[in-house]
Amino acid sequence: MPLQNPRVAIVGATGAVGTELIACLQERKFPLSSLRLFASERSAGRTLAFRDQGLPVEVLTEDSFAGIDLALFSAGSGTSRRFAPAAVRHGAIVVDNSSAFRMDDAVPLVVPEVNAAALAAHNGIVAVPNCVAIIAAVPLWPLQQAFGITRLIAATYQAASGAGAAAMAELRASTGAYLAGRPFSPTVLRHPYAFNLFSHDTPVDPETGANDEETKVGRELRKIMRTPELPIGVTCVRVPVLRAHCIALTLELPHPVAPDAVRAILAAAPGIRIVDDAEQNHFPMPNEASGQGDILVGRIRRDSSDPSGRTIAMFVAGDQLLKGAALNAVQIAERLLL
Ligand code: A2P
Repeated sequence: MPLQNPRVAIVGATGAVGTELIACLQERKFPLSSLRLFASERSAGRTLAFRDQGLPVEVLTEDSFAGIDLALFSAGSGTSRRFAPAAVRHGAIVVDNSSAFRMDDAVPLVVPEVNAAALAAHNGIVAVPNCVAIIAAVPLWPLQQAFGITRLIAATYQAASGAGAAAMAELRASTGAYLAGRPFSPTVLRHPYAFNLFSHDTPVDPETGANDEETKVGRELRKIMRTPELPIGVTCVRVPVLRAHCIALTLELPHPVAPDAVRAILAAAPGIRIVDDAEQNHFPMPNEASGQGDILVGRIRRDSSDPSGRTIAMFVAGDQLLKGAALNAVQIAERLLL
């Protein structure tokens, strides 16, 4: 049954993604009949603006979902594991931004430009992929459809927002301290963030040498694109940028393809803006990706390490909080209305 003028809840409304969920619902004129905002007891008493109204932030409990048709979760995987089943029991459809259910076979993992059809098979929960997986999948999918990708290597340049509002605040504060020559001890991230970068702050598996983020990106891309055998190598790095991720993508195709052909396919694909001006040295950048919904794609070229011409390299940038999380969730919700 499609949703009609749903009664919507946002779980994690005070967070970095929650704030953008509220903004996306407002900007896209999502046809909701009511909106309730939930967070932890730390936020009790706060009020957040939505369509000229001040809405109270309520403390989340298992009973919060009575009368809710659509629950947008972005409060971490522990909260999703604990509360999403209660939301489904109350009859709500959950669109979950956390990693809690992404690899569950019964849960569609959806980037609407790629696999909106998977939504038909949901059992009450739809998962929003990892932000890097979304930002990579949008440009990879048209090439997968046109040629079939045989191997993928990705290196990421990930913003603070992926680690939440507190990490964004730490980037600002540590940069201020650095410029003022004051000492600063990080409390959110493990390493100094101002004028520095470091390997993604998730645990490394001693067997594979991959960190959790790298493992997630590979397995989620394979699930989204339905390419279970695709070999994918990923290196994830956190850079001192507030809210847009960049990714260097190197993909091997079954036969040689001209960069112009790749550019033409990507230019015609949904959700992509080509930014590939070699004359001006103007390519995807986090500051131009921030605050808008497209994935910027450029530096499209033959990878010079493969003389066969089958390997294409490109550089992409996308807003982690928008297409990498909140916007993708709201686009999923819009599909559930149809
Ligand atoms: P709060 O602000 O009350 O801590 P971010 O990803 O930016 O760190 O945001 C996380 C979001 O998840 C915040 O809105 C936070 O609320 C919310 N949150 C964290 N833990 C819980 C919980 N146990 N129940 C409800 N909301 C939670």
